Amino acid sequence: RMSLPKITTGSKNLDNLLGGGVEVKTITEFFGEFGSGKTQLCHQLAVNVQLPLEKGGLSRKAVYIDTEGTFRWERIEAMARGLGLDPDKTMENIFYVRAVNSDHQMAVVEELKELIPKEDIGLVVVDSVTGHFRAEYPGRENLAVRQQKLNRHLHQLMSLAELFDVAVVVTNQVMARPDVFYGDPTTAIGGHVLYHAPGVRVQLKKSRGNRRIARIVDAPHLPESEAVFAITEVGIRD
Ligand code: GTP
Ligand code: MG
Repeated sequence: RMSLPKITTGSKNLDNLLGGGVEVKTITEFFGEFGSGKTQLCHQLAVNVQLPLEKGGLSRKAVYIDTEGTFRWERIEAMARGLGLDPDKTMENIFYVRAVNSDHQMAVVEELKELIPKEDIGLVVVDSVTGHFRAEYPGRENLAVRQQKLNRHLHQLMSLAELFDVAVVVTNQVMARPDVFYGDPTTAIGGHVLYHAPGVRVQLKKSRGNRRIARIVDAPHLPESEAVFAITEVGIRD
């Protein structure tokens, strides 16, 4: 695992927790309550993947699949400036898609088999991976079909990760529940997206002000510890 290329998050603390950063050939899931920093991390990674290797990037481009309409180009600009990157070039290197429903979301991912090698994509973001599936298949009565479709989607994403050496980052909103954070992660409300898929799951939690706390769950090869990072004007930092 040590030899797999990784993308820096912008925070040394969080990078250390992740064993260096967000890994290629892997699905990394950021989950947590609203405002916990999932979308900000996705923006930052879409910028950072473009950095040269010595600065923690892959010198590659990003695909950003937005299912909630929360992507902001101005945020990409600010983050690019914060790293001394050319904002226009940075934005050009992000392929943005707004997925309007779960079928569209899956169709978009299917088409990436052509785009990824053609455009030298190193990161695929799906923010959020669960939103449309939850909205279209709500409640316990739809749990089986929802999970079946979601699993199919995750397999699609895992194939891309493995075939093209890309990092896949997905988000999943779960309600805040203090007992879940330190307890059994499989009991998280609407949780365990990656329960059957290989990957890294990172739980995010709000702290004071712009501080956020990250914790890895279900990963025996990574430390059982926490990292504190900040969401600043120029992006994710320690
Ligand atoms: P949901 O999608 O609602 O589940 O939340 P999320 O986990 O995606 O949260 P998100 O990443 O959107 O984090 C929101 C937090 O990031 C806000 O509470 C702000 O503190 C911070 N934030 C968002 N935009 C900016 C910005 O332009 N500047 C600064 N400094 N902070 C920002
Ligand atoms: Mg969000």
